[in-house]
Parts: sequence; C-alpha cells; structure tokens
Amino acid sequence: MEMFNQQEVEKRRTFAIISHPDAGKTTITEKLLLFGGAIQQAGEVRARKSARHATSDWMELEKQRGISVTSSVMKFTYNGCEINLLDTPGHNDFSEDTYRVLTAVDSVLMVIDSVKGVETQTRKLLEVCRLRHTPIMTFMNKLDREGQEPLDLLDDIEKNLKMQTAPITWPVGMGKRFRGTYHLYTKELIFFDAEAANGTGEVLSVNGLDDPRLDEMLGSQVDELRHDVELLEGAAHPFDKEAYLAGQQTPVFFGSAINTFGVQQLLDAFIEYAPPPLPRETISRAVSPYEAPFSGFTFKIQANMDPAHRDRIAFFRICSGKFTRGMKVRHVRLGREVQIANATIFMAQDRTNVEEAWPGDIIGIHNHGTIKIGDTFTQGEDLKFTGIPSFAPEHFRKVRLLNPMKSKALEKGLVQLAEEGATQVFKPVMGADWVIGAVGLLQFEVVMHRLEHEYSVKVAFEPVSYVTARWVTGEKKKIEEFEKKEAMHVYIDGEGKLTYMAGSQWRLDNTIDTWKELSFHETSEHS
Ligand code: G4P
Repeated sequence: MEMFNQQEVEKRRTFAIISHPDAGKTTITEKLLLFGGAIQQAGEVRARKSARHATSDWMELEKQRGISVTSSVMKFTYNGCEINLLDTPGHNDFSEDTYRVLTAVDSVLMVIDSVKGVETQTRKLLEVCRLRHTPIMTFMNKLDREGQEPLDLLDDIEKNLKMQTAPITWPVGMGKRFRGTYHLYTKELIFFDAEAANGTGEVLSVNGLDDPRLDEMLGSQVDELRHDVELLEGAAHPFDKEAYLAGQQTPVFFGSAINTFGVQQLLDAFIEYAPPPLPRETISRAVSPYEAPFSGFTFKIQANMDPAHRDRIAFFRICSGKFTRGMKVRHVRLGREVQIANATIFMAQDRTNVEEAWPGDIIGIHNHGTIKIGDTFTQGEDLKFTGIPSFAPEHFRKVRLLNPMKSKALEKGLVQLAEEGATQVFKPVMGADWVIGAVGLLQFEVVMHRLEHEYSVKVAFEPVSYVTARWVTGEKKKIEEFEKKEAMHVYIDGEGKLTYMAGSQWRLDNTIDTWKELSFHETSEHS
C-alpha cells in the first residue's frame, strides 16, 4: 500500500496523562509544555487549573468554559515531533469525557505519587486503557519526598494494575537523601540538584555499577543502588518495546516533576518509543493512518461559551488523510455532505484556525447539535469507527419534572444531552420517571443547568438506589423473559438499548449468575 502522509504521521504523538488528583499531572504538563516551548514560564497551566477548581458550582463553571476548552488539547513540538496532549479532567469535573478522551489517544502517560502509590482514579482510567491495549509509560513522581520503597511501587503496579513493569531509570535514595537517578540502559547517573534551574545537576556516564567513580560520588549510598539493581534483575522485567506497545508492560521513570527532574528523560523516551497514530477499527475494516482519504471521529462535545446560540464544539480525532480548511466531508450517520469551514486547532495557549491537519491531530468543529459522540466523517466511504463507547454510570438520579406540561421538551433535552455525552438517560420499562446516569457528580449539575437554560425545562433530581448499570444483550426470547421478570430494574437508554440497573454489586452478580444465557456489558457503542 502506498504510504500517504508518512512523514506527517510518523512525527505525531497523541497522548493523555492519567493520574489521581494531586499526583502531579498539572505540574508535569507544565514542564512538558516548557520543554516544547509552548509556554514561556511555569505557572500558566497551574493558573488555569486553579481557575477551574476555584469554581464550586456549575454557574461559575460556565464562566470558566473558555478555560476548559482551551486546555482540552495542548499541541506542542519537541525534537521534530508534533505532540498532542489531551487533557483528562479530574477532581470535580471528572466525567464520562475523562474516559472518552482515552479512546482518542495512541498512548498514555501515567503519573503516580510515590508517597501514595496507585490510587483509585488511576485504576479506573487504566481499565479504560486496557479495553484498547493502550501503551502506558509511567512516571513515579515526588521522589524528593519520603515515599514508598521503589520496589514496592513497582509491585503495587504489577498487583493492582496487572501490568508488567520495566524500570528504565532507578532512584538513588529519596526525600532528603534523594541523589538522582541511574539510567539502567545508558548507564548514566544524573544528579538531582534542587538548586539548579531545572533540578538537574551533573550527569555522570559510568562503566556499569562497579565503576569506582560511583563510590566517589555517592559514598555509602552506592551500596543501596547496587543492591537494588541486583534485586531488579530477579524481580523486574527488562524493557520490551513490543510488550509496551501491546499495553502489557509499562516502562517506569522516576523523578520529581516540580523540580523538572527526570522529565526530560521521560520526554525523550516518549518521543522514541510511544507510537505514532495507529490504525483504527471500524465496523467494516481497520483504517490505516497512511490512507489518503480523510477520516475521523468525534469523541467529545462541549457546549460553547454562549448557550443562547446552542453552539457546540465537537472534538474530532483525525484517523487518516489530510484535513484542509473548507473541505467537504461525509457525515456518515446523517448520510450527508458537510463543509467544514471553521475548524479550530488547540494550541497550548490559544485556539487558532486550522488550515491543515493530519492523523493524530485533534480539531474542533463548531456545530449546532448535529454531531453526536462517535460520529464518523469520511471522504465518501461509509465507515463507522468503533471503540468510543458509553461507560456504565456509577451515579444515578431520578428526574422529576416541575412543570408537567413540559414533558416533550424534557425528553428532547435529555436525548440531545445524552447524544452529546453530557449524561446518560434511561427510560423505565415500567413507570414514568427518567433516570439519568453519570460517572462524575458534576455531570448532574451540568444537566440541570442546561435543561433550564437551553430547553426551558425545570427539573428536580431525586436520589435513586442504583449503584451500577449494564447493557444487556441476548437471544430475543430470553430478553423478553428477562424484561418481564426484572421489569422494575429494566430501562431503555437514549439509543433504545436495554439496560439493567442494580442496587448493589451483589445484586448485579446475582442477576448475571441467574441469567447465564444473557450478556451484561460494561460499555455500549454509540449507534
Ligand atoms: P494534579 O494536577 O495531578 O492534581 O497535581 P498538581 O500538578 O497540581 O500537583 C499537586 C501538588 O503536588 C502540588 O502542590 C504540586 O506542587 C505538588 N507536586 C508536584 N510534583 C511534585 C514533586 O515532584 N515533588 C513535590 N514535593 N511536590 C510535587 P500543592 O501544594 O497542592 O500546590 P501548589 O501550592 O504547589 O500550587
């Protein structure tokens, strides 16, 4: 096959950072952008983060939407590579978008706080990566603090995240005794110097661990290093690029983001090993990034600054071909040609109009509600990209309509908001009240606010005792039987799919056990 766009594809890296709040994602993002020359000084990304988290309710958040739009995708260049870093919102604004962003990247950087080890949010996000076998690079952060033993940290990843670890660098001491890291492959010792402008002190190339210069420089700490590395030979895996690319092994780097220590080693390895844009599955075939015709899909939709205009930005991942401004593309679900006159590309600092973009790039397309999550655009072929699903909600609310005359408007609003991925909606098979589901609580506030302001529907939310949901498929007869027997807990989602709601994990396990002929799915593809 002819390799179209080869150079443009190979120099691109599209990734996201996953971490638990406070592990250091903002700090490391900032340092990466500094290396990429995309920002001039530390503090710019942090300022945006604080602005976002200073907001306590959705009204305030609304004002800050500009911030979350601009920081959604950050583009920078480093060593000839074009890097797209996609933000995965955390804290209060954790939502389905956070999950879905991970369906649009080719690899992931996992940041772990070495004091705390693997934490819940990281574990959740990693589950999503696992669905697609996404390659994951790990940065163990905050080595300048007294943290857990490095070997225990590796063990934590292996046990909790069920992934092989392959340390690339290894720390010498930690906290007050942190001296730097030893690169297990280049055999370089990089000294930590908190006083130096970028935290990096002298770099010493040695002939392996027996080199007497190590004794000179490290004193008694060299014994710890020798001991650790000896243990590693038995306990850790050697770096295996294929296993990394298959999502089975994660290379691990140690450092301190706030001191910019270890970040450049990480970035250099990232450029070298992280995959360029990969082929993407569609219902009919895999699409290679080197194909000439343009194609891509929407993974996130964001209501724009001015709700009065119902203007939305659809975030669109290019999968093949080349985008040029004003080009006509086929909106496959609608079966219509549309012209993309105004696409936006997101730079680290602001948004600019796009003239051209290639596979791996993310562009923003303005629209008035005609684009749904998962929509595919092509240059003619009827393709439908897969792997951009809905994720089983973890929080539920019953929707009570305050003005009963508005039930049609409520239905329209809920269905549209579900299409945008703002929430998930479920209509009971028995009974009248809609239930909405989310993975992050802020989603409920967003829905209430938008129903009122965009659809003039006032609602109240009431608690409902569900903790999880599953999409159910199976043979027609069995499904009918299931619907009858479990009627109280069966719902139809916004796309007409049968959903089972469970009041507890035990209840769910029990139902799955009882209905062995049926399949219960944690994710559901958009149709
Ligand atoms: P997040 O985006 O993952 O939530 O984390 P963020 O980068 O905001 O970092 C969380 C806290 O951890 C911040 O401190 C940050 O300065 C600190 N931090 C990040 N990297 C390191 C590191 O390598 N060593 C140490 N010791 N701390 C680190 P904060 O007090 O919450 O914020 P600030 O007052 O520093 O802004």
